[in-house]
Amino acid sequence: MHERHGERQETGTPPTVARFYDTVRSGALSAAALAHGDADIGQECVLTPDEIFALARRAGITAGTSVLDIGSGTGGPACYLAQQLGCRILGVDISEVGHAQAIARVRDAALSHLVQFQHGDIATLPLQEAAFDVILGLDAWCHIPQLALFLQQCAVLLRPLGRLAFYDHVVCQPMPAEEYEHFCRLWCFPGLETPQSYREALQAAGFRVLSHDVTSAYAVRFYTRLLTLYTERRPEFEAMRGPARYQAGFERIQMSQCLATAGVLGQLACIAEKPEARDRVERCSQERRP
Ligand SMILES: C[S@@+](CC[C@H](N)C(=O)[O-])C[C@H]1O[C@@H](n2cnc3c(N)ncnc32)[C@H](O)[C@@H]1O
Repeated sequence: MHERHGERQETGTPPTVARFYDTVRSGALSAAALAHGDADIGQECVLTPDEIFALARRAGITAGTSVLDIGSGTGGPACYLAQQLGCRILGVDISEVGHAQAIARVRDAALSHLVQFQHGDIATLPLQEAAFDVILGLDAWCHIPQLALFLQQCAVLLRPLGRLAFYDHVVCQPMPAEEYEHFCRLWCFPGLETPQSYREALQAAGFRVLSHDVTSAYAVRFYTRLLTLYTERRPEFEAMRGPARYQAGFERIQMSQCLATAGVLGQLACIAEKPEARDRVERCSQERRP
């Protein structure tokens, strides 16, 4: 059993996460869109379109690839990748507001022949087994409470030799328990993995890790911009969200920026492959040999 950086937080349950994102998305101003500036494609992860595209290419996504985007948000990356690469994408997200915005986006972009969205918690959505070539995650899986179970589910949904391709927030250096708990509460994270605990969880679920890189650079870039504009445009954000929500958002962004700058908060970029069925059989029979 792998161990996360710290204890599981009760504040990070799926209904709490859904409410959190519904609230963040309910105003007219999108902080993420402003922070991405010219590079905004509707993504809420910390990555530029080029970085999202590069991950997709490394995972082998081309025209006709069947992709499941888990935690697809308002659908920006799914529509962008379908447009650029011609792949078919199903995006799933637990936030009702995010889902409605994703549906509007795909309609406006006339991409419904390639992109579809489903609303719900990935843990309970009935999805077809062995139907996907690639499962994509962009800063979303840190919200999923039981990583081991989640990765087992991914293995069921992928075809043999299918791949996981994801960026996710991780804790790269030890954090005092109180600070860690506070940070997880601010973001509704049930807990955060370390790069090592993530690798162990992937291997325990039977995945072959093909690449595993950790960086804080993208988080520093994004949260620094976000902090600047959240400070500069305080009156607008405060009018939209009210002083208490503005303050909570400010604390969240400031803490993320500090932790990323100190190299404590990082992002894991990973590609992992589900083995062919016979690899598994071989491994099991080797394990049984005396
Ligand atoms: C930071 S946002 C990233 C969204 C998107 N990947 C992007 O880059 O634009 C994380 C998303 O994960 C979704 N999410 C969290 N837990 C989920 C779950 N259990 N099932 C489905 N979606 C989930 C949230 O609703 C949120 O939209």
